Amino acid sequence: MARIRMVAGNWKMNKNYEDGRDLAMAVRDALGPSEVKVVFCTPYIHLKTVSIILKDILNIHLGAQNCHEKESGAFTGEISAPQLKSTGCEYVILGHSERREYFKESHELLAEKTKAVLGQGMKPIFCFGEKLDSREAGKQNQIVEKQLKESLFKNFSKDEFANITLAYEPVWAIGTGKTASPKQAQEMHQFIRSLVKKKYGAETADSTTILYGGSVKPANAKDLFGQPDVDGGLIGGASLKAPDFVEITKAFF
Ligand code: 13P
Repeated sequence: MARIRMVAGNWKMNKNYEDGRDLAMAVRDALGPSEVKVVFCTPYIHLKTVSIILKDILNIHLGAQNCHEKESGAFTGEISAPQLKSTGCEYVILGHSERREYFKESHELLAEKTKAVLGQGMKPIFCFGEKLDSREAGKQNQIVEKQLKESLFKNFSKDEFANITLAYEPVWAIGTGKTASPKQAQEMHQFIRSLVKKKYGAETADSTTILYGGSVKPANAKDLFGQPDVDGGLIGGASLKAPDFVEITKAFF
């Protein structure tokens, strides 16, 4: 089965209401038909509006950046998976390094959140990746293997896993302008696919979409996406500028 190729924009905590609306419309209008799946992962305040902007647009999908693990209840300030679903949201980023670092999200909590998202028929974009000190110590594979095993492999069946998109985001490349080289990205993505193969079998490994994230720009997207095991990107800063984001979606061709 051919793997889905995807470019997802993670707006993080950027864009006020009007600017977010304008960005979504600008990308929608400039993109046109494409074989690549495009996802906007917006802050919560934009979800419903962007969902309306994307109505009837087949290749652009809506995503969130987090969700609470419980369905509803007294959790002031939180948003649940059923609430996200009700806006038209199809994807949810989970396990981003900023949430692991600043909000102390654990492997166990991320497994619960993943379960909540899958339970609503939405698709997690599950992020993981090593920090600079681990990379410098040559421990990146060990770290990545632990992140995958503790949250996903331990808790999800092959059928459940088939709905999860992976996103390898080395922390040292996020927002730093320092991108993993195409060779570094390919080596890690190949390793990740081998882990998926060991756990869930060759067919699942072949059909798992593995995105690369960390300072992807129009200038480096083609080389990164040209690697055999890199199926697209999770884009931070460059997803906030419509022309840059659109150019990145074209980097496969
Ligand atoms: P940058 O593209 O800004 O480095 O961010 C990457 C990222 O964290 C996407 O989730």
